[in-house]
Amino acid sequence: MNAHDSERMKGMLESLGYSEAAERADADLILFNTCSIREAADNRFIAHLGEAKRLKSEDPGRVVGVGGCWAQSVKDEVFERFPFVDVAFGPGQIHRLAEFLASDSLTAQGYFEFEDFSGHLPDKREREFQAWIQISQGCNCRCSYCIVPSTRGREQSRDPVELTAEVERLAADGVREVTLLGQNVNSYGRDVPRERKTTFAELLALVDSVAGIERIRYTSPHPKDMREDVIRAHAELPALCEHIHLPLQSGSSRILKAMRRTYDRGRYLDRVALIREHVPDCALTTDIIVGFPGETERDFAETLEVVEAVGYDGAFTFVFSPRRGTEAATLEGRLAHPVKRERMERLVEAVQRRARERAQRFVGRTMEVLVEGPSRTDPARLRGRSRHNKAVNFEGTGAPGDLIEVEIDAATSMTLSGQERLLSRVV
Ligand code: 5AD
Ligand code: SF4
Repeated sequence: MNAHDSERMKGMLESLGYSEAAERADADLILFNTCSIREAADNRFIAHLGEAKRLKSEDPGRVVGVGGCWAQSVKDEVFERFPFVDVAFGPGQIHRLAEFLASDSLTAQGYFEFEDFSGHLPDKREREFQAWIQISQGCNCRCSYCIVPSTRGREQSRDPVELTAEVERLAADGVREVTLLGQNVNSYGRDVPRERKTTFAELLALVDSVAGIERIRYTSPHPKDMREDVIRAHAELPALCEHIHLPLQSGSSRILKAMRRTYDRGRYLDRVALIREHVPDCALTTDIIVGFPGETERDFAETLEVVEAVGYDGAFTFVFSPRRGTEAATLEGRLAHPVKRERMERLVEAVQRRARERAQRFVGRTMEVLVEGPSRTDPARLRGRSRHNKAVNFEGTGAPGDLIEVEIDAATSMTLSGQERLLSRVV
């Protein structure tokens, strides 16, 4: 979501006549879009801000701006702690940056009330043929470790008619793959009165019906809201990819309760079973937090058991990070650093081993790959992604944005490799 907001900022700045400076020292405007999800990001940002202070003292005409969740969580305090900052705004006020820059304002300004979706703003996509679409803002969950509800506010769904129009515009602009974004995508529409409500499954069908959109992804759903209609959509809608990112967080029901995730291990595994029943080949990825306060060796072993049982195609793994203002930051039972590190190592080993095993099912198959560009390790080869969201390195002749059939001949935990099936180009 944060990276998507950056694209909007970039698009907006370009429409005001700005362009990217090669070096920070050449910039008239130094703008940070901050993420506060974990402490490490905050700390790195503070170091960058120190550099901005130095550059501003060399050239006081320079504008320093801070957007995003960090700005939102400290609000006007940013100007007390960092008096050289000219403008600060939260994730719901991105459009205010343009207003500030156009206003010749000499006084520092802060904008922290949620006002609008960044989806209205021009965007600057990293790749012409892929786009993110923000379908909702905020989150009504109360996961005890998470700072997002306090920085992005209550959930608000965007109007489906407006969203469909945006997808049509993007398709006309050459986009073939869209990723629907929200803090909890599958609670989409629940904040809207019943008579006007569109469910997430219905939204998926609307997007699927847009000509030119070949692939649809979304992130992230919440397991508690993962209903059968959405799962069936993966089997029924041609563009909806065979991949679901289903954040687990912990395999221990006791820890899940302390996390206020509102599902337990059994319900999570039921969701996985339902996915496998309707879409047997579906790739599954997840998010896992290790070292939540009070996590015992037994709790952690239960997380490993779920990893073994599900066999994820990949996982993002995080060490618990206490965030200001969250319930979990006040809990007793913090774990010692070496314990967290050791658990993380065991978790990563299990995730990678299972992902490697699972990836072998692709060897020998021909898979549709959306070409992204040259391979990172060997520029003579191409790189793209399968519908299962696996990176694929292959020999072939496609251009970025092409859909190509690739015969897979090897698989590691992270990537597949193969060669273009030449027949497919002739047909
Ligand atoms: N500590 C560690 N990981 C966190 N996440 C969110 N908040 C925290 C935190 N305080 C992780 C969750 C979430 C992902 C986006 O970031 O796993 O799904
Ligand atoms: Fe945070 Fe939980 Fe909402 Fe995700 S669902 S954004 S983890 S509060």
